[in-house]
Amino acid sequence: MLRAVVLLLISVAVGLTVGELDHGYKGYHIYEVTPKTLEQSQLLHQLSLDGYDFIKEGRLLGHSSRVIVSPAQFERFVKLVKSEQIAYTLLNENLGASIDEELALLKLQRRMNPITGKGRLSTERYYTHEEILNYIDDLAVRYPSRVFVKTVGWSYERRALKTITITNGDQRKGKKLIFVDGGFHAREWISPAAVLYIIDQLVEQFEQNADLLKDYDWIILPVVNPDGYEHTQTGTLARMWRKTRQPYGACYGADPNRNFDFHWNEEGASSSACADTYAGPTAFSEPETIVVRDLMHSLSDRGVMYLTLHSYGNYLLYPWGWTSDLPDTWEDLDEVARTGAEAIENATGTVYTYGSSTNVLYIAAGASDDYGFYAGFNVSITMELSGAGSIGFNPPVTRIDEFVTETWIGIRAMAEKIIEKY
Ligand SMILES: *[C@@H]1O[C@H](CO)[C@@H](O)[C@H](O)[C@H]1NC(C)=O
Ligand SMILES: *[C@@H]1O[C@H](CO)[C@@H](O)[C@H](O)[C@H]1NC(C)=O
Ligand SMILES: [Zn+2]
Repeated sequence: MLRAVVLLLISVAVGLTVGELDHGYKGYHIYEVTPKTLEQSQLLHQLSLDGYDFIKEGRLLGHSSRVIVSPAQFERFVKLVKSEQIAYTLLNENLGASIDEELALLKLQRRMNPITGKGRLSTERYYTHEEILNYIDDLAVRYPSRVFVKTVGWSYERRALKTITITNGDQRKGKKLIFVDGGFHAREWISPAAVLYIIDQLVEQFEQNADLLKDYDWIILPVVNPDGYEHTQTGTLARMWRKTRQPYGACYGADPNRNFDFHWNEEGASSSACADTYAGPTAFSEPETIVVRDLMHSLSDRGVMYLTLHSYGNYLLYPWGWTSDLPDTWEDLDEVARTGAEAIENATGTVYTYGSSTNVLYIAAGASDDYGFYAGFNVSITMELSGAGSIGFNPPVTRIDEFVTETWIGIRAMAEKIIEKY
């Protein structure tokens, strides 16, 4: 019954915004494509360099990628996949309509059930940056001996970047440390949602997770790119935004995950300010990446694992991303990533692929995981969350819980492995 009412209200809300349906991803398709030969894989990668927006991309043969195809790109795309006999399936034939529905639901949830900033957050919706900050501030008030919140910097549009440090309250100094962040890429809403679930587990479910906090503290930056994250919640056209929001001529923002000063802009990044993978005019041109850099350096003497959450693709990736060479300690990295993947597959059947970024995905320099490893974290992992069943960018709100709990199973297992090894 409630569901019927909600659906009715959504239709009304969507109906009211009919004017906006005339533009903004209307008639854009999402296709799943699966390369079976190296040549097919290279052709698909070429599309990504030619301005096709891949929301999931991998290079391994037999692994699917997902790509948004605009009406203007449609003809070339279909001609290519047909002539090259690349397997493709239509997943969504009107991305604009899916986005409108998603944003209408978001608005409705916010109107019907405003967040007071007190108490636990449910996994039944996506939150604003302000709601997330209010939530961690409230945790620090409710658990003053175990939880500490600190403002570590400001975004370009002057939003506060805050970390939450979670301890077991024994006040022992100099413990080892796990650093987690989310929300690098604006449109990847499931990433901050998963980070909130980690926080909930470590703080509210402390008894069950005390082993993870005995010799380790956790420092978490829930949203690295709040300007972009907020932007994606403002309307249909903005929904697929990925970058920061600092203006560069007629375009906006750099890809924060190509902006780190480690082999910056050598490979897999763009020098064009309008591109989705724009590396920025210089390394660390973005205030948000400077904040992450400074945190990494200040934490690296006791930091053992850096974990950054993205979506989507079911991947656990470790350095390097700037070269196909592997670091000397790659077997340690591989063991941690494999443990996370196995734990998830054992628990839910979801298969995560693990390996070095360059070998599993594509070469891409200037990313935060390479920088964290270079800065001294023994283990540095990018987790690309599963997007199974999604027809838009994120899982629908009804499935957030399933994704974040699954993610936590993998993270918990990796943390246990870290604690055992280091
Ligand atoms: C990182 O690994 C090295 C080599 O195994 C070890 O000596 C060092 O203590 C580790 N760092 C931390 C913070 O545990
Ligand atoms: C997953 O299951 C296999 C087979 O039962 C077991 O050997 C392995 O240790 C499990 N891995 C994790 C991380 O739970
Ligand atoms: Zn991402």
